[in-house]
Amino acid sequence: MTAMPTILQELPSDLDQDRLPRHVAVIMDGNGRWAKRRGLPRIMGHRRGVDALKGLLRCCNDWGIKSLTAYAFSTENWGRPHEEVDFLMTLFERVLLRELQEMMQENVRIQFVGNLEALPPSLQAQIERSMTETQNNHGIQFTVATNYGGRQEILQACREIASLVQQGKIQPDEIDEAMFSQHLYTANVGDPDLLIRTSGEMRLSNFLLWQLAYAELYITEALWPDFDRTEFHRALSSYQKRDRRFGKV
Ligand code: IPE
Ligand code: IPE
Ligand code: MG
Repeated sequence: MTAMPTILQELPSDLDQDRLPRHVAVIMDGNGRWAKRRGLPRIMGHRRGVDALKGLLRCCNDWGIKSLTAYAFSTENWGRPHEEVDFLMTLFERVLLRELQEMMQENVRIQFVGNLEALPPSLQAQIERSMTETQNNHGIQFTVATNYGGRQEILQACREIASLVQQGKIQPDEIDEAMFSQHLYTANVGDPDLLIRTSGEMRLSNFLLWQLAYAELYITEALWPDFDRTEFHRALSSYQKRDRRFGKV
């Protein structure tokens, strides 16, 4: 008989409850390499990647983290082979349909950020439905960046603000950081305190360019499908050792 793995429901005792990041963002990278190492097609890595994300969402909920934002598909990811893009779009749709009930039970409030209008209509419908059904939940805020690009988001905010100026509703000198943030997709979630990227890549890949200005960065060699509670525990331990100075002394 094999022993059941111990799953820590409670915050590990070496972590300080009062110094947890309020908002964690994650660039889920390395699904393809995970599959390749096992001689499997890339799509199998994406499948396992969904399980890893589910695990992280539940862990954040268990450990008292208020907000999780995950990068699921970038504006640049359309450049991948058609079959992979199609697979991902279908996967997102299926997962949403399958997980909605559980998200309700766990009090998750889900929202999507990105240029959602360019997604397949059937996926847009599932997105709409999941956002509407979970909008009054008071548990973790779960934000999924889908067809998201940081530069595109900033340009979109600029266009909105420029149009308000053109209509005479605001003056150029009224544009400040707070107002600008309100025109980003993430207006209601605030900036991440901690950014995790898996698979060792040291870049932002166009993710939350404005919002990550003062986030703590944590990069692990672990591939996304292998990112589990132990890995997350390591990321949080590293975060709690940081001295966040915000430019001060
Ligand atoms: C991340 O894993 C998932 C998406 C970008 C959708 P990758 O598919 O980028 O995996 P690698 O980087 O090729 O290993
Ligand atoms: C970033 O990963 C996008 C997502 C995780 C959705 P990529 O694999 O697309 O990034 P690059 O191409 O290595 O920069
Ligand atoms: Mg990648």
